[in-house]
Amino acid sequence: MVTETGTTPEQPLPHNIPHHVAIIMDGNGRWAEARGLPRRAGHEAGTENLRRVIRAAVEFGVKILTIYAFSTENWNRPRWEVRALLHILENVIDRELDELNAEGVQLRHLGEPDRLPVKLQQKVRHAIELTRNNDRLILNIAFNYGGRDEIVRAVRRIIADGLPPEAITEDVISRYLYTAGLPDPDLIIRTSGELRISNFLLWQGAYAEYYATPTLWPDFDREEFRKALIDYCQRERRFGALAPPESAS
Ligand code: IPE
Ligand code: IPE
Ligand code: MG
Repeated sequence: MVTETGTTPEQPLPHNIPHHVAIIMDGNGRWAEARGLPRRAGHEAGTENLRRVIRAAVEFGVKILTIYAFSTENWNRPRWEVRALLHILENVIDRELDELNAEGVQLRHLGEPDRLPVKLQQKVRHAIELTRNNDRLILNIAFNYGGRDEIVRAVRRIIADGLPPEAITEDVISRYLYTAGLPDPDLIIRTSGELRISNFLLWQGAYAEYYATPTLWPDFDREEFRKALIDYCQRERRFGALAPPESAS
């Protein structure tokens, strides 16, 4: 069917869209290099794109969006690039916080704040505090985040709290992670064609569906996001059990 304006109307999304989507936003550097631009320009374009994807997530009815913005290993990049990435996070908070708050987005941080510049730590704390009662979309920003580091810190705190061995369950460990209280991701998207997890949500991603696209992060637009959600909706999640009887062969 074609509308009066000559465009094909968009099909509504299926009802089983993922509740929690996590994204490894990769490929900013290659996006810039392909245009003869400095890597920093790629990070800026990537940040612009993040604004669009957050809005699309709200529009599509995703309830939790977790984005991987800076890993514990990204400190190994040249100092100027690390500085640029820290600066970008600060800019996002400065420029976007009021609008995100008005749209009902609750901001959370996954990762250790200690290693971030003090001013940035204060801004992150303020953003979390300001948006804590919002419930339209939970936006987790994984910054200075590493899955292994998260587990090590959880184990240390469990020991410091004096829990006996028999009290340690999967639920207890989940409660000591940065994502405490949140359901595991249903879908993990990685842009830029890399097929690895790069230390992201190692525990929480145990049964996530994975979606990889060659599209570089700054080009991963609303339409690409929609495609990933539709792809997810067509999958059958079995969690190690068998397919439901009606579709079993
Ligand atoms: C993703 O883009 C952003 C971060 C890792 C912070 P990259 O900077 O990794 O871009 P590529 O992978 O070099 O293209
Ligand atoms: C993963 O991307 C980390 C983030 C997107 C923040 P990287 O570009 O750092 O990962 P590798 O080095 O390709 O595994
Ligand atoms: Mg990369």
